[in-house]
Amino acid sequence: MRVGIYPGSFDPVTLGHWDLIQRAAKLVDRLIVGVLHNPAKTPTFSLDERMDFLKTLSKDCQNIEIATFHGLLVKYARQQGAQFIIRGVRAFSDFEYEFQMALTNRKLAPELETVFLMPKEENSVISSRIVREVGTMGGEISGLVPEILRDRIATKLLSPK
Ligand code: PNS
Repeated sequence: MRVGIYPGSFDPVTLGHWDLIQRAAKLVDRLIVGVLHNPAKTPTFSLDERMDFLKTLSKDCQNIEIATFHGLLVKYARQQGAQFIIRGVRAFSDFEYEFQMALTNRKLAPELETVFLMPKEENSVISSRIVREVGTMGGEISGLVPEILRDRIATKLLSPK
């Protein structure tokens, strides 16, 4: 059984993330979307909100699980019996960080293969940071986040808490 883990902060999930999740789900038998819980950081969206958004999106997808993890990714991936770590690359600017992370993870767990996927061109300039910035200033976030989540994300960004 091919098991892949797609880890991230998802603060919040974007159309780019959702694009990758759907691509990755076609490649593996079981896809775990691992939402990072980092107690040292204060994300804009709570862990529950970030998980709930992803669960809403994937509710009809048989082989996608939404889970949370903390600590080392490779440790969690091993616990789950994953063989693949899935990451997205959008632009050249992503490369250095992703390269460093993939090679570090390989040092820690040589049996785990990092697989890079590219989103559709129109989704390749979207990031959670851009969504937060546009939404906080009252800009339109349609086309940046999945439509089904647009209102919930926009409302929270306009009046956080
Ligand atoms: O969506 P992000 O913030 O780019 O995702 C980064 C993430 C969660 C993949 C990365 O920070 C991570 O794997 N954190 C867990 C801690 C860890 O394993 N660090 C070593 C990786 S080099």
